[in-house]
Amino acid sequence: PPGEPPLFAYPNGIMDAPTGSPAKAADDLKSWVAAVAARTRPSHVHWCDGSDAEYRRLTEAMVADGTLIPLHERKQPGSYLHRSDPSDVARLEDRTFICSENEADAGPLNNWKSPAEMKAILDPLFEGCMRGRTMYVVPYVMGPPGGDAAKVGVEITDSPYVAANMRIMTRMGRVALEELARKGHFTKGLHSTGDLSKENRYIAHFPDEDLIMSFSSNYGGNALLGKKCHALRLASVQARNEGWLAEHMLIVGVTNPQGETTYIAGAFPSACGKTNLAMLVPPVADRAQGWSVETVGDDIAWLRFGEDGRLWAVNPEHGFFGVAPGTSEETNRNALASCRANTLFTNVALKPDRTVWWEGLEPAPPECIDWLGQPWTPDSDHPAAHPNSRFTAPAGQCPSISDRWEDPQGVPIDAIVFGGRRSRVMPLAFEAFDWEHGTYLGATMSSEKTAAAEGTVGELRFDPMAMRPFCGYHIADYWRHWLEMGRKGNAGGGDKMPKVFHVNWFRRGEDGRFLWPGFGDNMRVLEWIVDRVQGAGDAVETPLGYRPTREELHMDDLGVSAEDEEALFAVNRDDWRAECDQRDAWFDLCGDRLPPELRQQNDALRERLG
Ligand code: GDP
Ligand code: PGA
Ligand code: MN
Repeated sequence: PPGEPPLFAYPNGIMDAPTGSPAKAADDLKSWVAAVAARTRPSHVHWCDGSDAEYRRLTEAMVADGTLIPLHERKQPGSYLHRSDPSDVARLEDRTFICSENEADAGPLNNWKSPAEMKAILDPLFEGCMRGRTMYVVPYVMGPPGGDAAKVGVEITDSPYVAANMRIMTRMGRVALEELARKGHFTKGLHSTGDLSKENRYIAHFPDEDLIMSFSSNYGGNALLGKKCHALRLASVQARNEGWLAEHMLIVGVTNPQGETTYIAGAFPSACGKTNLAMLVPPVADRAQGWSVETVGDDIAWLRFGEDGRLWAVNPEHGFFGVAPGTSEETNRNALASCRANTLFTNVALKPDRTVWWEGLEPAPPECIDWLGQPWTPDSDHPAAHPNSRFTAPAGQCPSISDRWEDPQGVPIDAIVFGGRRSRVMPLAFEAFDWEHGTYLGATMSSEKTAAAEGTVGELRFDPMAMRPFCGYHIADYWRHWLEMGRKGNAGGGDKMPKVFHVNWFRRGEDGRFLWPGFGDNMRVLEWIVDRVQGAGDAVETPLGYRPTREELHMDDLGVSAEDEEALFAVNRDDWRAECDQRDAWFDLCGDRLPPELRQQNDALRERLG
């Protein structure tokens, strides 16, 4: 607005702020920023400090140029709607590359190009790409600052939308430069909106240089580089090298009527229920008995051994990038409360009163503006909100957020839950026999594809540990790392490893309906898991693992009929033999690199099936 100082300026001594900063990291950062500016030719460079005032100016400028639509001041304060380019609505796995020196190190699941080849494509695209734009330098910390787990990154971007999202999703600005002064190292991320064409869209990772380059997409997983690119793909490589785990996992605390809190980490593929499980609201009856649930993280967990030899987890993020459709007062009240204020919505529908709507939120409004900006009525032939529309909300706003969510030590993990989206074959819940069997369950996870990534929704594919799109190195080496973590003896591991479980909320009956009520009723499965961890809880041995009994899950109270229960837990031997054959073919992808234990686990399952 007129009369205010210019919106963006060159840094005013900001790099001198972190006193005691290891000189080299500061020099690296300054010279890298200068080199990027020289190549991309922005008209301004703005160093983000992470302040409220800065965020306000960013959003005001985006409202002024139409990038953001302000929502109702009272009903959705501090919140905005953004409509993306219609072609830029999800992660693009075909255009995501791991550019390790050797192709073999990227493994069979990643696209690979050599660093030189990829840079030969990207360097010309970045040449002059920020002309007429402001270049934002976005320093961020993943993980609670001051802790061993925390890692610093700096994202350079020409998108104010990305910079604003990064402020919600990470601890951004000055705090990160202070952390850099302690850590002396940062991950580099270079992002440009480019022309948003698909031809020029690349999300490239250079593990040997700790560098990410992303061009021509502003979508979350492609452009908010702290999230999937840094905290999963590059961090998974560092974790292997340094003896910890960077996982696509929610972290949830469950307190039993005795007041003991058990922390559970869960790996589910994108749009398969992590955010919902992390924020679960227990049914009234369970609450009356004294059960409660607290949220530590909803998407990513970094796990390392504590001095007690157990695995401790931190949530490296600071916000939620949640799927909007299906989120309602009934399904996920906590997520809805989290995004009531100070939230950026992307590709949801807009009602005449300037509040947002999406399928599943409440009954459809008689009219609204769809995610494409067009008038929409319930008679329209497409959804009003994009199926992968999202909210970016501060984690601290979640009513169920744990007191310990920012603890630099993290929380001790006693159970790991794997789960996919399987209409058929896969039972509701079972427990692994041990860590090695649990690693096998993770390695053979499969799930039907969702709208979170481009491709055919519903197509079944293997998604090991929900990391298929996010493991930054060879998947067989990753499995080996998991097996080795379980053998660390006194340094951790051994008996102190979490128990491993497998769940499937998405099994359907012949008539196509979900057999399991899901959402809050998933509490029954969590309670069983907690009981098992505490040494109680009944289970029946099956070829797949230990399953809970009808009584343990309170099937009667839930109104799940005996027939549905049978269908939920059915292990059809022919289907499972076929599943074992598919798993053998899956393991064949890894050739000699496959840890032999996994093949043996598959053979053992085949034997148990008879
Ligand atoms: P995330 O991307 O893994 O965090 O997944 P979300 O928790 O955002 O859920 C993705 C979609 O799955 C949403 O449409 C949810 O409504 C739906 N969903 C989540 N949990 C359940 C469940 O227990 N049962 C069913 N049927 N759907 C679920
Ligand atoms: P999610 O992934 O669906 O696991 O939340 C978000 C993303 O793909 O960016
Ligand atoms: Mn999520």
